[in-house]
Amino acid sequence: MSFTQETLAELREIAGRYPQPRSGLLPMLHLVQSVEGRITSEGIETCADILDLSPAEVSGVATFYTMYKRKPVGDYLVGVCTNTLCAVMGGDAIFDRLKDHLDVGNDETTADGKITLEHIECNAACDYAPVMMVNWEFLDNQTPESATQLVDDLRAGKEVHSTRGPKLCTWRETERVLAGFPDGRVDEGPAAGPASLVGLSIARERGWTAPDTDETAAADGTGAESKVGAAEQADTSRAESETTQEEGQKNG
Ligand code: FES
Repeated sequence: MSFTQETLAELREIAGRYPQPRSGLLPMLHLVQSVEGRITSEGIETCADILDLSPAEVSGVATFYTMYKRKPVGDYLVGVCTNTLCAVMGGDAIFDRLKDHLDVGNDETTADGKITLEHIECNAACDYAPVMMVNWEFLDNQTPESATQLVDDLRAGKEVHSTRGPKLCTWRETERVLAGFPDGRVDEGPAAGPASLVGLSIARERGWTAPDTDETAAADGTGAESKVGAAEQADTSRAESETTQEEGQKNG
């Protein structure tokens, strides 16, 4: 298919957002995916033309990052984290169950075009392992049963929400947001869940604070030695606090 004048204008708009137009290539490729459902040869050539790059240079970028897809993606890109922690917590079992349930392999799409299944690497959400992602929204603490219910609901067209709140939209809609065209829903859901904030609440309870920043050290004339001293002092305070706690537990 040929890009519409509107899409061509949006691709040029993205390139115009950057002092060096070629810096816009990544979001431009997301826009191509939002329109065509994958990175096509025409998409590569159009981006190259706008940015005055060669198709080979654009292709090199599009084939390097796993978020860019050369095969058509379904309405929902369902990723199962099978990195170490999620794998041992059930990620491998979830992936195996979904492969059987959907009758697809890794990086394959169901016959109805609804679900593309893929392995994903650690998404820095290990405190909620095993995690899945649908179009890059988190689904925390999943099981094989919750995962099959999830994909069944998506295929049935039901409204489904991330375990962190936001309503799941389609992959093409997500790609448009990643291209830099907001859908107005950026504030849906929390910035961080309770499990990710446990360390912060413990630090607050115990009065722990971060060592001085570089700016503070430069402003008050202190250098690396005093920062090391502050860090050591913080470590000592923490050790003393833990020792006091342990003694308290032993004594009582
Ligand atoms: S190992 Fe799965 S989110 Fe880190």
